[in-house]
Amino acid sequence: MSVRRRTLLKVIVLGDSGVGKTSLMNQYVHKKFSQQYKATIGADFVTKELQIDDRLVTLQIWDTAGQERFQSLGVAFYRGADCCILVYDVNVLKSFDALDNWHEEFLKQANPPDPKKFPFMLVGNKVDVDGGNSRVVSEKKAKEWCASKGDIPYFETSAKEDYNVDPAFLCIAKAALANE
Ligand code: GTP
Ligand code: MG
Repeated sequence: MSVRRRTLLKVIVLGDSGVGKTSLMNQYVHKKFSQQYKATIGADFVTKELQIDDRLVTLQIWDTAGQERFQSLGVAFYRGADCCILVYDVNVLKSFDALDNWHEEFLKQANPPDPKKFPFMLVGNKVDVDGGNSRVVSEKKAKEWCASKGDIPYFETSAKEDYNVDPAFLCIAKAALANE
């Protein structure tokens, strides 16, 4: 019998209010989606176990509040993060323009030893809306942003239709493991 190592990875999900951070997490962990918007207050985590090669990995996924008045997270919250998922809504330009701030703020708070190597991921959510006709941020533009931040991986998702959600979380988990 092979010896399995268990690893806990702290994943932090950031992005503007309403982009679908909670929905992505609920879809990934509980396979559920709700149309109803309920703002996240502060932060909370869920866990998900997965196997990657010979490793048992527990993802501790921290869902945070996009609304400023509900952000009460201190430096301690970000410390020890193994990776960070930045989420925007492909139909809302403002949520894309805010990415620089979220990225910068994360690095400032988490203060990882090697910021250039820290595993980030960008997720463009809600690609299902209006059959893609209402999107305002192109894949090309998003990928350019990723390239400018040191080639961070990019996934387009729909939490509603469970499109590309599992692959996105698997990719960030692998990147975090590789960075250990
Ligand atoms: P805060 O907690 O305020 O930071 O927001 P959030 O980023 O957690 O957003 P949330 O997951 O609560 O989703 C906001 C709204 O968008 C809800 O009404 C969801 O049902 C909806 N939504 C989330 N993801 C999708 C998606 O992929 N497609 C569609 N059509 N709607 C989505
Ligand atoms: Mg939320």
